[in-house]
Amino acid sequence: MRVAIFASGNGTNFEALAGDRELYSAGLEIALLICDQPKAKVIERAREKNIPVFINQLKDYHDRNAYEQAIVDRLADENIDYLLLAGYMKVITETLLSAYPEKIINIHPSKLPKYPGLDSIERAFEAHEKETGVTIHYIDSGVDTGPIIVQGNVPIYAGDSLATLEERVHAKEHELYPQVVLELLKKIK
Ligand code: GAR
Repeated sequence: MRVAIFASGNGTNFEALAGDRELYSAGLEIALLICDQPKAKVIERAREKNIPVFINQLKDYHDRNAYEQAIVDRLADENIDYLLLAGYMKVITETLLSAYPEKIINIHPSKLPKYPGLDSIERAFEAHEKETGVTIHYIDSGVDTGPIIVQGNVPIYAGDSLATLEERVHAKEHELYPQVVLELLKKIK
């Protein structure tokens, strides 16, 4: 299974996937990183692992369709089967969705449908929730909607700061995303 990971920022989820040997043994090939932020740390992480990077910015195209079509063309060149979004902060629209129906997976740092969109961990923390979580789901045309594959719970403790909570949410992400990809590899074999 040849995948492209889409990311915009730090790339700790990219690292959790790209650094997991069990996934490679099960047939995963991370063939490409797609990134829309030329200065993102995830680019360094990919280069360290000799994973090709396609830096592609919406501002360089006349519209979103042309932006996504350039991505679709590159994915086709690389024979990509699945797309894994790992902190990719752009909405995915029809051009990509129709090229990869039911083959685009996203990770989100809340228990959807709670706290979709931006700053999900912070909003759960500010709302004094006792628990938040992580969702891994297929993408559809909505923002953080689409069929849920798995969710994980993350407790929020009285003594938490936003930083300690973020750390706990990310740890749960790094545990769940490789598991979901492993299950997918087994299923499509
Ligand atoms: C992760 O927490 C991921 O769930 C979130 O961005 C972060 C990326 O972290 N994604 C979204 O909010 C998508 N709506 P990372 O760059 O360290 O993997």
